[in-house]
Amino acid sequence: MLTDTDKKLVVESWRRVVPIEATAADLFYKRLFELEPAYRKLFPPRLDEQKKKLIRMLQFIVKSMDWMDSQWQDDVAPEEDLCIVVLAMGKRHDRLYKVPEASYDTVGEALLWALEQGLGDAFTPEIRAAWTKLYNVLATTMKMGAKAGAVAMHPAQAG
Ligand code: HEM
Repeated sequence: MLTDTDKKLVVESWRRVVPIEATAADLFYKRLFELEPAYRKLFPPRLDEQKKKLIRMLQFIVKSMDWMDSQWQDDVAPEEDLCIVVLAMGKRHDRLYKVPEASYDTVGEALLWALEQGLGDAFTPEIRAAWTKLYNVLATTMKMGAKAGAVAMHPAQAG
C-alpha cells in the first residue's frame, strides 16, 4: 500500500508535471507504441482527446491521494470515489476497448518513462518507487474491475 510519504511524493511530483502535461502525454504514447506497436490499433486515429482524458484521469487520481484521511466521508458520490472510478475504468478497458491484460505492464513502463523524461533529475528514485506503487495499485484494481461480474454461477446455484 502507499504510505503517506509515497502519496506526498506523488502529489508533489505531479505539480511539476502539470505545466508540461501535454508533453508528458505525447511522450507517454510515443513510448507506448515504440514498446508495442500493435497497441496503436486499439486507439482511435487521433489521440488528442485521448491524451486529455488520460491527463484528466491522472489529475483526479492524484487529487484523491491529496485527501487527508479526515476528509474521507461515508457519502462520497460514486463518481468521486477513487476505488469505484478505477474499477469501472478497468471494466471499460476490458469490455469496450479490449485491452489485453499483459498491456498493463507495458503501459506502466511507458508512464514511468514519460515521467522520467518530463521531470529529469527531479524524478528521484523515491518518486519513481512511489509512482510504481501507485501504478501497480491502479492496474490491479482495474484488472479486478475487468473480472467483476464475469464469474459464472455454479449450475447448482442457478435459479
Ligand atoms: C492506470 C492505467 C490506465 C489509466 C489511468 C487509463 C486511462 C484511460 C482513460 C481516462 C481513458 C478514457 C476513456 C475511459 O475513461 O473509459 C482510457 C481509454 C483507453 N485506454 Fe486507458 N488507461 C490505463 C490503462 C490502459 C492500458 C493498460 C491500455 C492498453 C493498451 C489502455 C488503452 C486504452 C484504450 C484503447 C482506450 C480507448 C480509446 C478510445 O477508443 O477512445 N489503457 N484510458
